[in-house]
Amino acid sequence: MDDRVVTGELQNEDASVELSLRPTILKQYIGQQKVKENLSIFIQAAKMREEPLDHVLLYGPPGLGKTTLAGIIANEMGVQFRSTSGPAIERAGDLAAILSSLEPGDVLFIDEIHRLPRSVEEVLYPAMEDFFLDIVIGTGPSARSVRIDLPPFTLVGATTRAGLLSAPLRDRFGVLSRLEFYETKDLCSIVERTAEIFQTSLSKEAAVEVARRSRGTPRIANRLLKRIRDISQVKGEEEISFPTTKLALEMLQVDDEGLDHIDHKLLRGIMESFQGGPVGLDTIAATIGEESQTIEDVYEPYLLQIGFIQRTPRGRVVTTKAYQHFGVKENDQ
Ligand SMILES: Nc1ncnc2c1ncn2[C@@H]1O[C@H](COP(=O)(O)OP(=O)(O)OP(=O)(O)O)[C@@H](O)[C@H]1O
Ligand SMILES: [Mg+2]
Repeated sequence: MDDRVVTGELQNEDASVELSLRPTILKQYIGQQKVKENLSIFIQAAKMREEPLDHVLLYGPPGLGKTTLAGIIANEMGVQFRSTSGPAIERAGDLAAILSSLEPGDVLFIDEIHRLPRSVEEVLYPAMEDFFLDIVIGTGPSARSVRIDLPPFTLVGATTRAGLLSAPLRDRFGVLSRLEFYETKDLCSIVERTAEIFQTSLSKEAAVEVARRSRGTPRIANRLLKRIRDISQVKGEEEISFPTTKLALEMLQVDDEGLDHIDHKLLRGIMESFQGGPVGLDTIAATIGEESQTIEDVYEPYLLQIGFIQRTPRGRVVTTKAYQHFGVKENDQ
């Protein structure tokens, strides 16, 4: 990955500020109305019954607030938040150690849960369903299975695509919440909130412009705001202005739709080499030198959302809307 400014994926520069930008209660979590309403009811009900919350699976493109929401769930439930990730748990024993150290009701957050090794996943099934572990101790003829009871806990899993999860694992989640790209008005509130935390001010027009060009993604909005703030500061502005925002976005090579050079490469690749498609994902990947998985998880969701590409059984197709954006006639190719 290069240092793409419009990617929803977490980058080094985000890590230091994200913690301070994360809302901690459901009320501060902007947008995602449906998800919030549901979770709020489930949390209230679980608290009334004095039971742990059902296991929750959060899925959606990078940077939409899955980790943030997992933290909020623990906070609202008034329990500890323990966090790990699929690739970090290599062996069944690693998971057993984490699970047996939980306190009753705790939230265990597993990020990138689709990357859990299968052998680990199998240990998770009885843990999620009936709160016990079946661990095999020793090898060969002396091997025996030991049952360890666990405190009841809530597993919150996050993944960029629920389709990547095995069916038995997916079925063990009681709550499946899909996060959507944010509407401009919600992103605008997020930008204004972030500016306040940064102790900077920006004009309403500037906030709307950042929101509009952030691909419906809070992480991108916050990152763009940071860069724009630098430029505004160097220009000696007291308040981040609309013209400076436009200028900064131009310098960052973010176009009017929030697309950057990689999106352009992807779209132009399909237009120029494949007459606009249909073309298979792997062929596109090979042509532009990116991994299929990255295209599917990171680049494509937003392009689908704004209707620049379509998925068909025979592959991806660039739409008329995209041709218009580039000022290219469809049959010119
Ligand atoms: N609803 C929201 N309101 C305010 N800020 C938000 C919201 N959602 C996300 N953010 C901000 O966006 C940033 C990214 O969010 P988060 O890390 O939770 O995304 P994620 O979905 O876990 O991403 P990834 O898929 O890369 O793990 C955080 O700094 C957070 O402050
Ligand atoms: Mg995350």
